[in-house]
Amino acid sequence: MYNPFSIEGKTIFITGASSGIGRATAIECSRMGAVLFITGRNPKGLQETYDKLEGNGHVQILADLSDSLNIPDIVDQLSPLDGAVHCAGFTNMTPFQFIGEKDLNAIMQVNFTAPALLSQALVKTKKLKKGASVVFISSISGVYCSSVAGSMYSASKGAVNGLVKGMALDLAPRKIRVNSVTPGMIDTHLFSEGAITEELFREDIKRYPLSRYGQPEEVAHAVIYLLSDATQWITGSNLLIDGGYTLL
Ligand SMILES: NC(=O)c1ccc[n+]([C@@H]2O[C@H](COP(=O)([O-])OP(=O)(O)OC[C@H]3O[C@@H](n4cnc5c(N)ncnc54)[C@H](OP(=O)(O)O)[C@@H]3O)[C@@H](O)[C@H]2O)c1
Repeated sequence: MYNPFSIEGKTIFITGASSGIGRATAIECSRMGAVLFITGRNPKGLQETYDKLEGNGHVQILADLSDSLNIPDIVDQLSPLDGAVHCAGFTNMTPFQFIGEKDLNAIMQVNFTAPALLSQALVKTKKLKKGASVVFISSISGVYCSSVAGSMYSASKGAVNGLVKGMALDLAPRKIRVNSVTPGMIDTHLFSEGAITEELFREDIKRYPLSRYGQPEEVAHAVIYLLSDATQWITGSNLLIDGGYTLL
């Protein structure tokens, strides 16, 4: 069947696959016929994702991205890739006046430095095939808006979007595409485990024209679009997925 959006048979590497958006991306990619290298820190979460994957030949790689010294070991375990999805990340809600250098370095390391160095290592070791697609999970926070106590997180995601533009230019001669997606609030445990109260949640939802938060699978489907050959002429771009939040 004619399907320009297919990723069947593509080999895709996904970080942050032990939970949330990364897990949903891995599961949806496997349902679309891709072969996956998935990584995460927590063995239980990564195994749970692995158990939910469809198809054969998938590989799990346990790795902590808070230390860049772990990057060569990850890259060594990969075969040539058609796509890479940088999903690992975390938030730290601290008012600007209380931010410490250690906290700032920790969030920049996982959300920005590690995916940048990991991408560079993939290029240097020729693990990204000609025509490969690299997708970063950024956020509306830092690109279109921010939140109270969200300056560190916003900075890390704003940096990702700057990186995407420069990387896209530098890797275009190799026919490697680089794009990002910027989700609004997605219903994963990143924000739902006590980070906001029921009352705040009810207030916040009103700010979404489509009257709900997004689902991890909805981000996964946007990522799959950017991984597919349907987007062979799209590079350096950012796909906004926010239920209309930033329109208001
Ligand atoms: N949820 C949202 O509303 C939202 C909105 C916009 C953007 N995002 C972005 O989407 C991405 C995924 O978020 P999520 O909501 O799916 O959160 P999540 O469920 O907490 O997943 C975060 C993932 O990142 C991994 N990770 C965190 N620190 C790591 C480290 N030091 N080394 C290796 N892996 C690490 C986690 O691995 P372990 O579990 O194994 O530690 C987990 O797989 C993040 O980049 C986040 O900033 C989320």
